[in-house]
Amino acid sequence: MAGHGSALGKLRLLYSIFAAFVLALLAAAPALAQSTARADGETLYRERCVGCHEAGSSRAPDLATLRQMAPDRVLSALRSGSMSTQSEGFSTAQLKRTRSA
Ligand code: HEC
Repeated sequence: MAGHGSALGKLRLLYSIFAAFVLALLAAAPALAQSTARADGETLYRERCVGCHEAGSSRAPDLATLRQMAPDRVLSALRSGSMSTQSEGFSTAQLKRTRSA
């Protein structure tokens, strides 16, 4: 049983490296996910919404106004309200992201 202790030691070392790696990932993930989501929503908004919403001349509220609206109202407008045609084919997650654009 001479080598037993050292094998266990190696395992412990590996485990702690792995744990540190996972912790680092966990710490970075939310920030990463948020910035991707934000970029996503922004692209979506530029591609599909800006034409009317930043034109100034139409009745469409601009981004600043949209941001002040309750998330639920924006979502329901997109899903079933006046904007449901504009947002056709988007997932709910994508629609939520346009909020943070
Ligand atoms: C074809 C032009 C056009 C496009 C494209 C468009 N909108 Fe609109 N949007 C409007 C107009 C006009 C209104 C005002 C509608 C009204 O007062 O009934 C509006 C209203 C809204 C409202 C407010 C609805 C409410 O309940 O007051 C939201 C939220 C909205 N748009 C989001 C979006 C998003 C997000 C996109 C992109 C996916 C988008 N719109 C694309 C023209 C457009």
